[in-house]
Amino acid sequence: MPLKETFSAYKRRAWRTFCVFQAKLKESLSVYERLAWRTFLVFQVGIVLTGGAVRLTKSGLGCPEWPDCVEGSIGPQPSQIEGVHSWIEFGNRLLTILLVLNVAYVVIAARINKRHGKLAWFQLGGLIAQIVLGGITVLTDLNPLTVAGHYLLSAILIAGIVRALHQIDEHHAAINVKREIFLLSRVIVGLTAIVLILGTFVTGSGPHAGDDQAPRYPFDAAKLAILHADVVIALVVGTISLWLLLRVTKRPVPRAYFYFIGAILLQGLIGYLQYFTGLPEALVAIHLLGSGLVWSAANFLFYSFEKESIVND
Ligand code: HEM
Repeated sequence: MPLKETFSAYKRRAWRTFCVFQAKLKESLSVYERLAWRTFLVFQVGIVLTGGAVRLTKSGLGCPEWPDCVEGSIGPQPSQIEGVHSWIEFGNRLLTILLVLNVAYVVIAARINKRHGKLAWFQLGGLIAQIVLGGITVLTDLNPLTVAGHYLLSAILIAGIVRALHQIDEHHAAINVKREIFLLSRVIVGLTAIVLILGTFVTGSGPHAGDDQAPRYPFDAAKLAILHADVVIALVVGTISLWLLLRVTKRPVPRAYFYFIGAILLQGLIGYLQYFTGLPEALVAIHLLGSGLVWSAANFLFYSFEKESIVND
């Protein structure tokens, strides 16, 4: 065979191998992409909990500097007066690294698969903002406004992750429902957001500041907790009404609904328990974890109903 033909045959084979490799890479990236978004959701909810653990063990200023833990050292020093608190806060900072690796994967997968790019970049931007806000929180001596901002930014990022998971799930189809039911689902998610925001005000006025010197809101924490719980009662009523409306109109009840109602009922119970038992740290931590789960479930519920699926009959 002439040299030119042999060369073209090799070229064709190399090109075919490359195409197969590229297709396989895309395929496995798609499989792991979903997994990556799922672990990202777990990490985001998890960091809300570990961030809370820092506050509840009064380790919020365990590392008094940022990005260094203590002047001249990125990690804690044995000579530090903060002692074990410096390690607790440093541990939380280290967890951020896992989130950074996870977001890097999600961004690379989005680039290669050419989809969910905006959502992936949004997560990267959000994480950077979260790291900066973490620094501001330390530098403002755990001001409740920045602590709340830190928490609520996590909630926004969780909403973005659920959106990505919803887009990745190609078999998902929203339920055909009447406009009233669709609107009620939006009211429920809106009420959940209000419960979260009010919760941060209760915490910002309560005893778990993270440090004895940390500033507090000048509000009555007990009264705010009652207001917070009242909105939860409205939320429970709205959620049960949604179930009734779905049954009456003979529509299926989405799976996300059961996660959501289960989560708010449990969370409400823990809320009352912690309120009546003087806010023990362990219950407050579980309540914090519960808030991340409730919010994730609310966002999954959101995507069970879509504007395009509204029916008029
Ligand atoms: C769907 C149900 C609920 C959700 C999603 C929720 C969510 C939250 C959130 C996000 C916080 C702030 C956490 C933080 O910033 O560290 C909070 C704090 C709090 N919640 Fe709830 N909550 C719910 C139900 C209740 C109920 C029924 C009560 C009963 C009174 C309650 C009592 C409290 C109290 C006392 C705090 C302050 C805890 C502290 O001092 O750190 N919560 N809640």
